[in-house]
Amino acid sequence: MKRRTFLQRLLFIGAGFPYVLRVGRAWGETRPAAPSHDWESVEFSFDANGQSYPGIAIKLPDTVVGDGKLYVACKICPHQGCEFGYERNFELVGDIVGKTFVNPVLFCRCHMSVYDPLRNGKVLNGPAPRPPWLFTYARDGQALKIQSVEDGVGHFG
Ligand code: FES
Repeated sequence: MKRRTFLQRLLFIGAGFPYVLRVGRAWGETRPAAPSHDWESVEFSFDANGQSYPGIAIKLPDTVVGDGKLYVACKICPHQGCEFGYERNFELVGDIVGKTFVNPVLFCRCHMSVYDPLRNGKVLNGPAPRPPWLFTYARDGQALKIQSVEDGVGHFG
């Protein structure tokens, strides 16, 4: 069996179940600590409208995007609703999907979609039809004040 096929089968076993959510912007508030070092991440759960949205905030490198910039997105994959992960070992993800990546990525094990947090969640590998939904947030000292999740969250396809 080829290495790539083996890795894909291994990942499929560990893939999660899809989320089922109502579509539409959800408002609420949660205050996770802000990540402070380049490529550091903080995960959180944003509760609104009786639902819980898994989120991730990633500190992007100052030398590339400017001081203190974060990528803050919902971890529900826009393809069919699995929860994707954050992979700092981007070379391994590249081996799995047969592409070359140059920075940490977001990777959905269900059907191998890959997103680039450095480029606002750009889809680097399909079948995802769009980037992950984003959260609106504000800085509050060392914390983030997560305020809402983008319209359309939970609309898959
Ligand atoms: S649910 Fe993520 S790629 Fe299909």
